[in-house]
Amino acid sequence: MKKVITYGTFDLIHHGHINILRRAKEYGDYLIVGLSSDEFNSLKGKAAYYSFEERKMILEAIKYVDEVIPEHNWGQKADDVQTNDIDLFVMGSDWEGKFDELNEHCEVVYLPRTEGISSSKIKTDLFNNKC
Ligand code: CTP
Repeated sequence: MKKVITYGTFDLIHHGHINILRRAKEYGDYLIVGLSSDEFNSLKGKAAYYSFEERKMILEAIKYVDEVIPEHNWGQKADDVQTNDIDLFVMGSDWEGKFDELNEHCEVVYLPRTEGISSSKIKTDLFNNKC
């Protein structure tokens, strides 16, 4: 069984998220999502609209996602990859080159982002009544 892992905040799920989850799953048989905890988001200077538990519940309802684990810090990825027997690490192209050191433990692939959408854009557009 080929196991794939990807990471993110996945707040206000949108088609860019669905695209990367679908493509990540296409690379293997089992997809794990490392989901940023609320504390880790604060550390990154990011505030999610939905709590960790709500974001987890939503992700678990997506057919491409087999398992959601919490991401608490920048340094845990290598551990996660080894503990979960991961074959492939997938991230969006906004992270191109940033996680190449994981090549030591598994294959690393960066997929092109979906143009024109992000959780931040949804928040800004709603704030500006652009709907
Ligand atoms: N992603 C993508 N295409 C988009 C938005 C996100 O492929 N249009 C990917 C990111 O590259 C990442 C994953 O989805 O691998 C989770 O990204 P996340 O940061 O949670 O989503 P964003 O919408 O970019 O959130 P924000 O605006 O808060 O940065």
